[in-house]
Amino acid sequence: MRSIKQIKDIKGKTVMVRVDFNLPIKGGTVADDFRIKKTLPTIDFLQKKGAKIILITHLGKGGETAAPVADALDKFTKITFIPEITGEAVIEAVKKMKGGDVILLENLRNDPGEKGGSADFAKKLAALADIYVNESFPVDHREDASIVLLPKLLPSYAGFQLEEEIKNLSQAFENPKRPFLFILGGAKFATKLPLIKKYLDLADHVFVGGALSNDFLKARGYEVGKSLKSDEDFGIEELLQNKKLIAPIDVLTQSDGKLINKKVSQVGKDDIILDVGEETLSTLEPFIKEAELILWNGPLGKYEAGGGGTTKKALQLVADSKAKSIIGGGDLVSVLSSLEPKSYKLKPNLFVSTGGGATLDFLANGTLPGIEALK
Ligand code: 3PG
Repeated sequence: MRSIKQIKDIKGKTVMVRVDFNLPIKGGTVADDFRIKKTLPTIDFLQKKGAKIILITHLGKGGETAAPVADALDKFTKITFIPEITGEAVIEAVKKMKGGDVILLENLRNDPGEKGGSADFAKKLAALADIYVNESFPVDHREDASIVLLPKLLPSYAGFQLEEEIKNLSQAFENPKRPFLFILGGAKFATKLPLIKKYLDLADHVFVGGALSNDFLKARGYEVGKSLKSDEDFGIEELLQNKKLIAPIDVLTQSDGKLINKKVSQVGKDDIILDVGEETLSTLEPFIKEAELILWNGPLGKYEAGGGGTTKKALQLVADSKAKSIIGGGDLVSVLSSLEPKSYKLKPNLFVSTGGGATLDFLANGTLPGIEALK
């Protein structure tokens, strides 16, 4: 994989940068610009070298305009938004560009060719530029046209954030520092089970929280009431014997409209588990303090419903620890943003991944289709 630092003679060239500005939009404006900030070094580098930059992104599942994204980006660097993806208006706009100019095209998923992996769509995009840069780690697990076909049609390079993601996340499976603590939360047991198995091999301790742990509690024979859980039987009894596995010993429940901390054995048929409990946090604390490497994906509790306090406390412990920490998953990153001081996110030994599903796939498989397409 070549880095953008290796591009020769950039001055005056048209560089198409696939970014992932799939951002939360509330009331017509971008609610979180973290992913924009993380692409600025790549945009800045290309601008300073005199390239003409065409940014392409998807937003949602298609059907929405990328105009709010353009407004958010414009706060950092002057850009022109072209409300088309291909066609005459785009060709004309590109012809008029000068070195250092930046344009953003309309939401790629508004064209069925993007998700449909259309070679024709990829060719139309390729015809606009001389060089392709992938700066879209969060969507590199998708085999969309702009991710896997376009880089085959142009000289292609990796952006700075993509390189950072690969470098940092790889530390979890290439000679990890020890003790290595893996914390996994969130939901979707079926998708995360391969990851749990892999890191029970690779890490020294694996803590499972969030809705995932309800499946473990269920397999242990505990009542989980009306909590979020999978209906399938995953045959995980053997995993439960693994000494590296740390599961909650108490939980925060919603019982008769009240939030109550209960031992896992006390959860009733009508209870809803919203978070791991205080005793569980005390069990986890020494593992966090002694760890040299912490990899954490997904929250431990359900914030929207009154849980999540433990996630915040545990995250504070992680942020204060001596460990190299790798944090991933949109919900968990939002919790990190709410911590004081805000400078936590800038701690040199704390890496915050921009990916959600892509981070999980990369941790499970060591690569992604979008990365392979650059080779
Ligand atoms: C994300 O936000 O996780 C990526 O942009 C991928 O989005 P998708 O799940 O809609 O493909």
